[in-house]
Amino acid sequence: MSDKVAIRFQPQRAEIAVERGQSILDAALSGKLSLPHKCGGHGTCGTCKVQIESKTELPCPTKLELRHLTETRIESGYRLACQCKLTGPATVTIPEDPLRRVVRELLAAQRLEKSHESAVNVQETAEAPIDAATPQLSAGGLADTGGVRR
Ligand code: FES
Repeated sequence: MSDKVAIRFQPQRAEIAVERGQSILDAALSGKLSLPHKCGGHGTCGTCKVQIESKTELPCPTKLELRHLTETRIESGYRLACQCKLTGPATVTIPEDPLRRVVRELLAAQRLEKSHESAVNVQETAEAPIDAATPQLSAGGLADTGGVRR
């Protein structure tokens, strides 16, 4: 049995091999991934929540995890990254920061609005009547200036 465990982090799509029994937080930090951990991994802040998918049974939640996670959340695979130590391969999802999510959604809405405005402008331009004063090419290829002669 290998002493290393492969952890796939989402949404970064990073796969990091760590020593069996190493915490998920240590694994993320060794891979230079951003994972909130205000208390430095002491299990007191609850900011390092992650969601784990693993075919290997996870260790029982620690008392510190039980303070920060409801039974429902634990059943959904949520754990504290600083407290949970994996014994088998797993996929770990780091939830998006709520403020970052709001900013991302606002920017996406803004981009969508701009693309709709551009589409409307293109459509209006395409449907606009040809201005009578705009020189038109005649059959000979020269601009017909509407009757101005020398
Ligand atoms: S880093 Fe604070 S609870 Fe895990």
